[in-house]
Amino acid sequence: MPIAVKTVPIEKLVEELRQLPESAFHEIETVRRLLEEMPVSPDSLAPYLTWDRQHYTRNLIDRRPLYELIAICWEVGQVSSVHNHRDQNCWMAAPIGRLRVENFHVVEQDLRAGRCQLEQLNTVEMNASNPCAVDPADPVHRVLNPREFNQRAVSLHVYSRPFDSCVVYSPEQGTCGEIRLHFNTEYGKAAVR
Ligand code: SIN
Repeated sequence: MPIAVKTVPIEKLVEELRQLPESAFHEIETVRRLLEEMPVSPDSLAPYLTWDRQHYTRNLIDRRPLYELIAICWEVGQVSSVHNHRDQNCWMAAPIGRLRVENFHVVEQDLRAGRCQLEQLNTVEMNASNPCAVDPADPVHRVLNPREFNQRAVSLHVYSRPFDSCVVYSPEQGTCGEIRLHFNTEYGKAAVR
């Protein structure tokens, strides 16, 4: 029999994040525990969910100087690039569906030359009861909604501090480069680009 999980509306998570002291964003356990103790109800995310068959969508829910909270919507089979987070902490939860996170170690990187060498570390699964924090020592990862999971997924990401560009890597080709990040929606409305 499935265990009934007590969920909270997204507004409650926002309220809690806004009350955290700056120090909570400098380590990874406090926010990870918050996401674990407060799984978000899928219904409350409705204003932030947009879908695109070509690419996963990025939807801003809340932004403060200390953090931003975004919802990412993944169609079946969609995958992010292998990327870093600009030395910012990152926490992820999956209130809808399941997602796989593949972590990488950067053996070397020369961003100017666009060259890198990566080796694959571990793989973890995110779902409603298993949020995760990106390891600050090895923050490079990609997120996948594999075809075999056979369902749409939505992840929540807390980034501290907010960032609007990151480095993407091709482990196969040994290349890397900087990209800008964009939102599909901001606060429930189409983003102006
Ligand atoms: C993104 O923010 O676009 C990538 C999601 C992630 O953190 O893996």
